[in-house]
Amino acid sequence: MKNIFKIAVLFIAFGSMISCQDDNKPNYQYMPNMYESVGYETYGKYEVFPEGYEALKPAEGSVMRGWLPYDYENTIEGKASAKANLKNPLPYTEENYVKGNELYNIYCGICHGVKGDGKGTLAKREKILGVPAYNDAGRAITEGSVYHVMYYGINSMGSYASQMTEDELWMVDHYVMGLKDALDGKPERAFTAAEIIEEMTEGKIDTDLNEGAVDAIPGPESEPMNAAGNEH
Ligand code: HEC
Repeated sequence: MKNIFKIAVLFIAFGSMISCQDDNKPNYQYMPNMYESVGYETYGKYEVFPEGYEALKPAEGSVMRGWLPYDYENTIEGKASAKANLKNPLPYTEENYVKGNELYNIYCGICHGVKGDGKGTLAKREKILGVPAYNDAGRAITEGSVYHVMYYGINSMGSYASQMTEDELWMVDHYVMGLKDALDGKPERAFTAAEIIEEMTEGKIDTDLNEGAVDAIPGPESEPMNAAGNEH
């Protein structure tokens, strides 16, 4: 008897707790500041700046940290210019080569083949046609042209600019040029000596990326800048 009484009390207590709940209304907030930020929401509308937004647009010409605009246009002239002028700013070290090898196998080998002879799995199975060998005489690829096609893509080959960082693209570039040398039967290129790397990082050797670039970004500062941001 007592038990039934206890159960009934529990029932009523529980029922009264949930019966008034309305699923359509937000529940009580005990500490609203934890849910509704007192700070401004990113890009929310507030009367802080002239245009009524919380954040201002970056100043014109701003570039992301660790990223430099690529000045060669996606045109035939742009490619020819990159082919002739653009040089790999990374030293040819074992580390860069090994990383380039890894990335190459991830992104390129499936079509171009591990040796760069154009006989990757997809090419062999005829899933993609017209994959050239890197020593194709008619194409005569260079460090600059390889970067250019990775950056923009070329016909049925897509762009890799969003998949890899600038440095990673240049590591793959070193590796591709190594494959080309091997296909041409040239001896392996020696890795860059430590003293030279030191000079490169101290900016004593000009590793100008933009020399001869087609001016893609007109504006008050249309003077080409080199990798260190110094004017010529
Ligand atoms: C989906 C298959 C595919 C993948 C993956 C691929 N390529 Fe290609 N690549 C091609 C084809 C096809 C061509 C020939 C395009 C043309 O000229 O019509 C080509 C052409 C090239 C050329 C010669 C361009 C020239 O100047 O004529 C280079 C260099 C090259 N690829 C490098 C790379 C590198 C480096 C990667 C990896 C980051 C890569 N490719 C990934 C299919 C691919």
